[in-house]
Amino acid sequence: MFPAPAVPRPRKRSRPAEACVPRREEVKFKDVRVYLVERKMGRSRRSFLTQLATSKGFIVEDVLSDKVTHVVSEDSQAASLWKWLKDCAQTNLPNVHVLDVSWFTDSMREGRPVAVETRHLIQDTVPTSPEGSTPTHSATVSPYACQRRTTIENKNNILTDAFEVLAESYEFNEMEGPCLAFRRAASVLKSLPQAVRCLGETQDLPCLGEHTKAVMEEVLQCGHSFEVEKILSDERYQTLKLFTSVFGVGPKTADKWYRRGLRSFSDILADRDIHFNQMQQNGFLHYGDISRAVSKAEARSLSNIIDGTARAITPAAILALTGGFRRGKEFGHDVDFIVTTPELGMEESLLCKIIAELKKKGILLYCDYQASTFDMAKLPSLRFEAMDHFAKCFLILRLDASGVEGGLHSAEGDSRGWRAVRVDLVSPPMDRYAFALLGWTGSRQFERDLRRFARGKQRMLLDNHALYDKTKNEFLAATTERDIFAHLGLEYIEPWQRNA
Ligand code: UTP
Ligand code: MN
Repeated sequence: MFPAPAVPRPRKRSRPAEACVPRREEVKFKDVRVYLVERKMGRSRRSFLTQLATSKGFIVEDVLSDKVTHVVSEDSQAASLWKWLKDCAQTNLPNVHVLDVSWFTDSMREGRPVAVETRHLIQDTVPTSPEGSTPTHSATVSPYACQRRTTIENKNNILTDAFEVLAESYEFNEMEGPCLAFRRAASVLKSLPQAVRCLGETQDLPCLGEHTKAVMEEVLQCGHSFEVEKILSDERYQTLKLFTSVFGVGPKTADKWYRRGLRSFSDILADRDIHFNQMQQNGFLHYGDISRAVSKAEARSLSNIIDGTARAITPAAILALTGGFRRGKEFGHDVDFIVTTPELGMEESLLCKIIAELKKKGILLYCDYQASTFDMAKLPSLRFEAMDHFAKCFLILRLDASGVEGGLHSAEGDSRGWRAVRVDLVSPPMDRYAFALLGWTGSRQFERDLRRFARGKQRMLLDNHALYDKTKNEFLAATTERDIFAHLGLEYIEPWQRNA
């Protein structure tokens, strides 16, 4: 007879062995005994949260007994949870708090068990705001995008479109402060569940200054803002907007061309003194295709192609779709992927082999490969750098219609049967995977606020490579995005809620 295995085989990657060794930590809160419900949470997350709490001086019980004071669960269904608890526990659990994981994250953030509030209690029904009632959006909107849930459904696009024009105009004039202010304001409005109808509804919202409110008032009253109209009809704005729509052309280059008196693509191409780099040459060459949005079906087809290519090189290859498509967007300007392997140090050669293979298949139209400059010894980086240090490549690929469900998203009358698409591949070493995934999923505003929150609220430094705790002077390990949110004391925000 063979004994049945006690636990099912974990399907996912297992953690490094050292992470599983329990450490003896000093107990700071003797009166609180936490029990984490594994159901819905999963075994690895439970053990991670256990370690986190223990390191902060909490007692975490392995077994549900009458010693337990706080039961924490990620299961939001009260009825089934209570039934499960009653079935598990020997006793009746009369005095125990049964809490949502928000109590746990609040306590981790504070570094002590916080008082139980009604919002921490597991509720059977999700509270909804009944139709026609006063909007409650100003109740408690956080000034940090990483504490808001923002889906792709934007109810305030008339306002946010206006703000984005202003932000871009300030960016073209290198005025970072007002640019960021309008981006933040747009981001707050994107998170609201309803359309703002009058200025009064926004009085308790964060990140809305005098200027933003003036623009908002105009748009709400007249349907448009005169300031925005003026920018949209401004020759410099229009020209810089056109020039920066070319792959490889940033605001600096666009402005240089503008100051030479150039106003159109034909002006630029006719100017003998302008030298284009490889990226710009390809930007012009494939302009029609790559200035056209990429559809979800096209992203899926590319995902199949890259996945097949990577797995043919090593069956252990790991591919993840990131960027806007991971956030649930229907269209994007490119398709972003992380591709790596569990074998530490092999990720960069995997990327090179993938590029070589795409070339062999005849679908590599352009490749800008950037070798890894990643060095853990040079971290933490005090200044955030726009580009991370992982091996990566910026590609233009030829995508055939045959693999795309419903056909290509091409211009009408285009009968080539293929189109060019911008694709980014990044290859972090596996132990950096969670940080890279979080960083490349975006949105840009969500990432900015994660870093701002980490630095300003937690004395931590976050980037695409690592999370560093300045108080403890140590790096915090993470194998999933959830681990990073937990370290930061943040409630987990799903990728599709990060469209800030
Ligand atoms: P994108 O520019 O591709 O944006 O960067 P997006 O959200 O996918 O939107 P569209 O649809 O393509 O326009 C994706 C994420 O990757 C990060 C950015 O911060 C962004 O959040 N990123 C990009 C990096 O971290 N490093 C890079 O070098 C490039
Ligand atoms: Mn993208």
